[in-house]
Amino acid sequence: MKFFVDTADTADIKELAATGLLDGVTTNPSLILKAGRPMTEVIAEICALVDGPVSAEVTATDAEAMIAEGRKLAEIADNIAIKLPLTLDGLKACRVLTGEGRMVNVTLCFSANQALLAAKAGATFISPFIGRLDDINTDGMDLIREIRVIYDNYGFETEILAASIRSANHVKECALVGADVATVPPAVLKGLVKHPLTDKGLEQFLADWAKTGQSIL
Ligand code: E4P
Repeated sequence: MKFFVDTADTADIKELAATGLLDGVTTNPSLILKAGRPMTEVIAEICALVDGPVSAEVTATDAEAMIAEGRKLAEIADNIAIKLPLTLDGLKACRVLTGEGRMVNVTLCFSANQALLAAKAGATFISPFIGRLDDINTDGMDLIREIRVIYDNYGFETEILAASIRSANHVKECALVGADVATVPPAVLKGLVKHPLTDKGLEQFLADWAKTGQSIL
């Protein structure tokens, strides 16, 4: 499973990219607002930090304007994935932009039928939102399971990019049910490495090693 980070905070992205574990980045207008800088400046900086896909979202709502915005965003760097909302206009724009060889991430997916339509429109990625479904007492992970079955039934190459992830458990479940990518907030991503028994065990090993009086180098 690939790991994307869901943020427009370049300090976090730099730190995570240095681990070699980061495969891409997703942003959205709310994350750009949080960054508090011009979108094109932030996205260009992110694209230089990460080799993988960097999702940048259009804000137009009709297909023609989405296509124009998508083309403009794609000029920022070769690794831009144009993010389009899951509407009929979004799907129409998806078909055109992927036809031009561009990467498209269809976002705000909340049902398996929406994901089916996005795959038929040639989306590179589909972004089902787990946490926001959990928020309304619907099991977000069920949606990932359903999309996996549907895409495998028909051999769709659209990658399932599990989004709106809120916890380490979400990440584990995504891996178990076969999401292709998980886009994870920085704090959750950094937290995946932690286990109290790892800390305790390391502390003990280091203390015992010090008692041997030896050194490796
Ligand atoms: C995905 O691309 C979105 O940016 C993101 O995962 C939304 O997450 P949220 O529901 O926590 O805002």
